Amino acid sequence: MAFRWKNTLTQADVTPKAAWLNRRQIMAGFGGAAGLGLAGLPAMAQDLEPNSLEDIRAYNNFYEFGTGKEDPARNAHQLDTADWKITVDGLVDNPGVYSLADLLDGLTVEERIYRFRCVEAWSMVVPWNGVELADVLARLGVQSDAKFVAFETVVQPDRMIGVQRRVIPFPYVEGLRLDEAMHPLTLLATGIYGEPMANQNGAPIRLVVPWKYGFKSIKSIVRISLVAEQPPATWNIINPGEYGFYSNVNPYVPHPRWSQTTERKIGGGLFAERQDTKKFNGYDEVASLYDGMDLGKYF
Ligand code: MTE
Repeated sequence: MAFRWKNTLTQADVTPKAAWLNRRQIMAGFGGAAGLGLAGLPAMAQDLEPNSLEDIRAYNNFYEFGTGKEDPARNAHQLDTADWKITVDGLVDNPGVYSLADLLDGLTVEERIYRFRCVEAWSMVVPWNGVELADVLARLGVQSDAKFVAFETVVQPDRMIGVQRRVIPFPYVEGLRLDEAMHPLTLLATGIYGEPMANQNGAPIRLVVPWKYGFKSIKSIVRISLVAEQPPATWNIINPGEYGFYSNVNPYVPHPRWSQTTERKIGGGLFAERQDTKKFNGYDEVASLYDGMDLGKYF
């Protein structure tokens, strides 16, 4: 699809509002609601009971704003999201510097209730609002030699205490193989619960890849590049022995320093039972992307 330049929308238009959300709730990972016997439904509904907005906004990883779980909520109000621009470059027909409104113009913002599993073995269920990354890529015109998509987070040193303290290398960068990026589960999210994305969750636009550990879901994106070679990914650069490029949720591949077989659901209380972690975080429909790959080696 060719990109249509239309400047009729403002920032307010891309902010998801409950009134125009397409409330199709994707119960992916269970073969979809239609494919389930009735007996499966209560368990599924229970499993996908979303966390509260308070949980989702209060317990975060966003190292640009500090390394503590409560640091992003405390510090991310400093993030300047006004007049947000996203640079699109590399192997695309329509490169350029896009406003958020132009990038998302005409696309349907959907609600997707996804499990979200951090590599640190905690999890949440988050009702995201967003568009499929595939739809954005289609309008950008991906060229045939592009094999990966690279993403970059904004760096605002004056406003980001973690950047000032150089807690890890910045900008935070991430990448997906093109087929992963094109998968219908992969979202560019602009909101949660019909509310605009809170700064600490990666305003105004972030990636969500529900079958991968949370660190792949890069926040506050300012660059999307289509590239031929596997791009750098922040945690993989910092410690390649512990964090692979793929980072698919997998209870059978332990982190070198802890098990990945179970997870603690945030909001469940201190004494809540840990729940079993599922391969691909339960999203079995992505398994074919990795046919023939040794997921212990390509972790
Ligand atoms: N994106 C950036 N730019 N900086 C970060 O530190 N942390 C990642 C990911 N995206 C991170 C990031 C990690 S480790 C996780 S688990 C998720 O964001 C957390 O998302 P949440 O805070 O919205 O739950």
